[in-house]
Amino acid sequence: MQSSFPLFPPSASSIATDVDLLYFFILAVSSFFAILVTLAVIYFAIRFRRRHEDEVGHDIHGSITLELVWTFIPFVLAMVMFFWGADLFFKLSRPPADSMDVFVVGKQWMWKVQHPDGMREINELHVPINRNVRITLGSEDVLHDYYIPAFRVKMDAVPGKLTTMWFKATKAGTYRIFCAEYCGTQHSGMVGQVIAMEEHDYEAWLAGGRSTGTAVENGEKLFTALACVTCHKSDASGRGPLLAGVFGSTVQLMDGRKVVADENYIRESIMNPQSKIVLGYQPIMPTFQGTVSEENLLQLIAYIKTLKPAAGKEGAPGGSAPAAAGAGHETGK
Ligand code: CUA
Repeated sequence: MQSSFPLFPPSASSIATDVDLLYFFILAVSSFFAILVTLAVIYFAIRFRRRHEDEVGHDIHGSITLELVWTFIPFVLAMVMFFWGADLFFKLSRPPADSMDVFVVGKQWMWKVQHPDGMREINELHVPINRNVRITLGSEDVLHDYYIPAFRVKMDAVPGKLTTMWFKATKAGTYRIFCAEYCGTQHSGMVGQVIAMEEHDYEAWLAGGRSTGTAVENGEKLFTALACVTCHKSDASGRGPLLAGVFGSTVQLMDGRKVVADENYIRESIMNPQSKIVLGYQPIMPTFQGTVSEENLLQLIAYIKTLKPAAGKEGAPGGSAPAAAGAGHETGK
């Protein structure tokens, strides 16, 4: 349908039909009422026109029934749109747990892509079909917006934070990528293409490229090169919080707040360490703003995600884990 009707992009992801259905529903409801109101205006204008110079209109005193009807029907329709849209929004904003990760960084005026195995590309995005792909988006300068019409997904790339989107491509092919947020003179040229491939073609493509180390490997190198490792030691003896198992855990802060250690928390802790101090630690970490690029940040986060608590139980970093480790030392010696 879409290919013969050029107003519509091809539909090539698992969510595309759902998005289209809601769109067509809203379009149909809007068209129906637009036509209804227009016809009524024309009909009434003719039917109730003034026929004599001295004709005076009747007084009308309203109708409760009519008012209830034209309040209730639009209310129901609006609620249908709201809950349908909300349901779809939740689906779009919750990447499935089995998604493969791809990092994308927007920069005036290009999209830099990093695959989990370290393969990089610019303004192109190769993905396998029938697999959930989670895009983690960052921006190196200003607001951009990663938009793949054929997949019906679109997400802002916001400087200073990380955002995510996900899709599952269903049809092999080449589709357009746009920047959908005005970002400077070359905004309209900030385009690219996504190449959705059969799984084996994707593997072959990955194997054909020269990889510069996986995101995790690069993150680990940075972790040493930037001397993070001198304070965040692998046991709890460092001056900085233990990072093993920190990702996804709840962290107790000095000011009494508790936060979940997600991508944005780790990002903020690297770029602006003073903003959230973990309970029991000193605010001594320097900022890495300007030292670490958005791509490096994504690599560091990928590495920190892989750090698992050593032998012990589910190490709650900053909380009970250091205490438990301390106790272990005493009994051990
Ligand atoms: Cu980047 Cu518009």
